[in-house]
Amino acid sequence: MHELRSKIEEAVRAIRRHSARSPRVGIILGTGLGGLAAQIESSQAIPYASVPYFPASTVESHAGQLVCGKLRGVDVIAMEGRFHFYEGYSMQEVTFPVRVMRALGVEILIVTNAAGGMNPHHDLADLVIIEDHINLMGDNPLRGPNDAALGPRFPDMSHPYDRPLMALAQQTALELGIPCRKGVFVAVAGPNLETRAEYRMLRSMGADLVGMSTVPEVIVAAHAGLRVLGFSIVTDLCLPDALEPADIKQIIEVAGRGGERLSRLIPHILEKLEQV
Ligand code: HPA
Repeated sequence: MHELRSKIEEAVRAIRRHSARSPRVGIILGTGLGGLAAQIESSQAIPYASVPYFPASTVESHAGQLVCGKLRGVDVIAMEGRFHFYEGYSMQEVTFPVRVMRALGVEILIVTNAAGGMNPHHDLADLVIIEDHINLMGDNPLRGPNDAALGPRFPDMSHPYDRPLMALAQQTALELGIPCRKGVFVAVAGPNLETRAEYRMLRSMGADLVGMSTVPEVIVAAHAGLRVLGFSIVTDLCLPDALEPADIKQIIEVAGRGGERLSRLIPHILEKLEQV
């Protein structure tokens, strides 16, 4: 058997020792989304350190555990803290948890992140549904031998973000009175933020949001046949002609504000999943 598949199976066995549940929805919680994990009921927390082949998360603003349980009646598995390419992990390491979630039975992946907003209509703490992405990270998690049991060699990317789920998210946000936009997300390797010339370039490419995560996970989710719903929280305004120095403390504070709204929205979406 391929090496990756046996690693996935080992990780699945370790998780099943902690929780016998079969999650249907996987959630990757970005900066500021801790409040959502706290809403998961009858939950079991599994530290990444106890799951084989999960690297240890090194970013202070991220916890580093899986949380399994029920959210509005739906069996979920949430990643509190993700792995970033800029931390030095390979793309395969960054996306390994997505493979594991799929093997546990997950069909829908909800990804969230903190992102720079390049669309002049965006404001701080805005929620944006990711409608498409551009991979500018300079690497790809699918590079190397392909295991056909996990997905196709040349996966289609015409619609990596599920249209019925996007429509459900927009409708639910409207009903709750939570402002929610749509936009194109571009992923860069980081860890530095962008120069003004880079923001100008990324904007002219057609991107509304820029961040250092999410795209690797979405590529692997598409490869694995998962339906994906993605959200960004706009944490800093990246307008090249009026750019302020980035303040990471402020970015984390704004992510928390947007995160509160997203933590309110996601459970209501889960409640209505049967509609899509
Ligand atoms: N650039 C890249 N990543 C980010 C940014 C940004 O401006 N803001 C939050 N994550």
